[in-house]
Amino acid sequence: TWSTGNIIEEQVAAIRAQVGDGKALCGLSGGVDSAVAAALVQRAIGDRLTCVLVDHGLMRQDEVAQVEKDYVAATGVKLHIAREQERFLEALKGVTDPETKRKAIGREFIRAFEAAEEKVLREEAQDGEPVRFLVQGTLYPDVVESGGGEGAANIKSHHNVGGLPEDLQFELVEPLRALFKDEVRAVGRELGLPENIVGRQPFPGPGLGIRIIGEVTEQRLDILRRADAIAREELTRAGLDDEVWQMPVVLLADVHSVGVQGDGRTYGHPIVLRPVSSEDAMTADWSRLPSELLARISNRITNEVEEINRVVLDITSKPPGTIEWE
Ligand code: XMP
Repeated sequence: TWSTGNIIEEQVAAIRAQVGDGKALCGLSGGVDSAVAAALVQRAIGDRLTCVLVDHGLMRQDEVAQVEKDYVAATGVKLHIAREQERFLEALKGVTDPETKRKAIGREFIRAFEAAEEKVLREEAQDGEPVRFLVQGTLYPDVVESGGGEGAANIKSHHNVGGLPEDLQFELVEPLRALFKDEVRAVGRELGLPENIVGRQPFPGPGLGIRIIGEVTEQRLDILRRADAIAREELTRAGLDDEVWQMPVVLLADVHSVGVQGDGRTYGHPIVLRPVSSEDAMTADWSRLPSELLARISNRITNEVEEINRVVLDITSKPPGTIEWE
């Protein structure tokens, strides 16, 4: 029978065969997939793996520090934080089309890995030996929905599949490419990763960049970050983290509506809550969250985030909606 143990053994052998005595770089996003991919590769090639966390400026509040702390504590892996906010903001300037955004982000990720490879890794190793392999936590659904499956339509280009530049200088190592999320979580647990990593809700590689409908700017990211932090805090406080697959918070940055606060008129942005339940992200239903929780999130966001004067709930299943709005 096909067990988690089999998957691990088979993938460790395949990684060793592919990488030989070479070196690999793994992009950690803070999500489950890249964390498990890194743990598998670490088991296969030990300290010839270096992880890079690209801080693209599209992370949620306090997320970079949290990932750094949790992941290093759990695995002891070498981790380099690449501060690349400016590179991504520059690449996203003026971009509003979702696929153009995704491709720009995918391209800049690779450029950031190349820069990290050059700057840190070769200096560190001092043997001048370049890193040839790039580990990605690509899952089966990512491949299918990026149009990689047989006869599949391109629904969206996942940053690590359809968004890669053509002149990629790395050879890809993708040990999770045949797996679904629940299998990835099982592999992670078997490899000894703690629940605070394995049990995390999914968060897309392009981050908040695909949750701002309209151009991504520093100011809009700041608004979304504050609203998102409140929504997540309240979901956790209600004890519903495990019941909800994920809850994207989406800023409709080009939309304004009229509101009233105190005795004054406001003209602010709406924000969308998108809580979903799902087994594998290929299909999803909207979560029936308790109305008191929704009311608390709405009150707090409109009170605490000045730029937001309306909170709306997305009650669309997938299909026909997707989970993320872009
Ligand atoms: P959609 O929006 O296609 O999302 O219903 C399905 C699942 O995939 C996540 N997602 C991504 N994850 N890179 C990722 O690593 C991406 O480019 C990407 N796009 C969507 C999404 O959060 C959901 O869990």
